[in-house]
Amino acid sequence: MIIAVSGKGGTGKTVIASLLVRSLAERNAYDILAIDSDPDSNLPDALGVEVERTIGDIREELLEKRDSLPPGVSWRSQLEYEVMRALVETESFDLLSMGRPEGPGCYCAANHVLREIIDTMAGNYDYVIIDTEAGLEHLSRRTTQNVDVMLVVTDTSKRGITTAARIKELAEELNIKFDSIYVVINRATAGTEEKLQEYAGEVGLEVIGTVPEDENVRMYDHEGRPLMELPGDTPALRAVRGIAEKIVR
Ligand SMILES: Nc1ncnc2c1ncn2[C@@H]1O[C@H](COP(=O)(O)OP(=O)(O)OP(=O)(O)O)[C@@H](O)[C@H]1O
Ligand SMILES: [Mg+2]
Repeated sequence: MIIAVSGKGGTGKTVIASLLVRSLAERNAYDILAIDSDPDSNLPDALGVEVERTIGDIREELLEKRDSLPPGVSWRSQLEYEVMRALVETESFDLLSMGRPEGPGCYCAANHVLREIIDTMAGNYDYVIIDTEAGLEHLSRRTTQNVDVMLVVTDTSKRGITTAARIKELAEELNIKFDSIYVVINRATAGTEEKLQEYAGEVGLEVIGTVPEDENVRMYDHEGRPLMELPGDTPALRAVRGIAEKIVR
């Protein structure tokens, strides 16, 4: 199952994505792949892992040396090998960082092959969790075209719901189908939830869960500590566990 976390800038996509990785990893039952597809990435920090090479790096290197590949070595097998090397493995999950997206030049062939390799790789996991960049670019770039569950994170502003509605509309326009799309209300404070539920309902979106403002999350991010180390009973993590339960069933 592929789960993507999207939404407008700064709403808490990376926090929700990493807590989702943690919630699923805690069950000790699944193979989990986290994909950081935000070029300005910080999912690895939140998960407490270091990334040395991104898919963007691999693409650039390949394009630099494509004329000097020894004969008989195909692009594809070279790229497969490089993607495997870029995969960061930990005890509870693996991580792949997409890095910089393709430039305006004609990188199409390399991109196409890379996408195929990543899709095949993703098929080896029970759960793939994608932290997307802010906004809607991921849809037009088709990073999120095979997603089963699209989670759109919103703050407590009505604009967050508007972004969620746009993601849904644009996906329909581009003929990208998700099995389900849900809103996650993040940093909820007393009295904000009901109104947002109502807005979401008006644009035909379902709220799958509400994550409270959490002092620990703020403090850990402030100090640059991985969210994987948050206390197990911290409110935001408990809320995300509840969301994971609804998704996993
Ligand atoms: N539930 C929460 N409680 C407290 N602080 C939170 C919560 N969710 C997010 N934050 C804080 O809000 C800030 C933005 O969160 P995060 O980086 O996850 O957003 P984002 O949507 O991934 O941002 P970007 O669009 O830049 O990728 C961080 O400083 C984070 O600590
Ligand atoms: Mg982020």
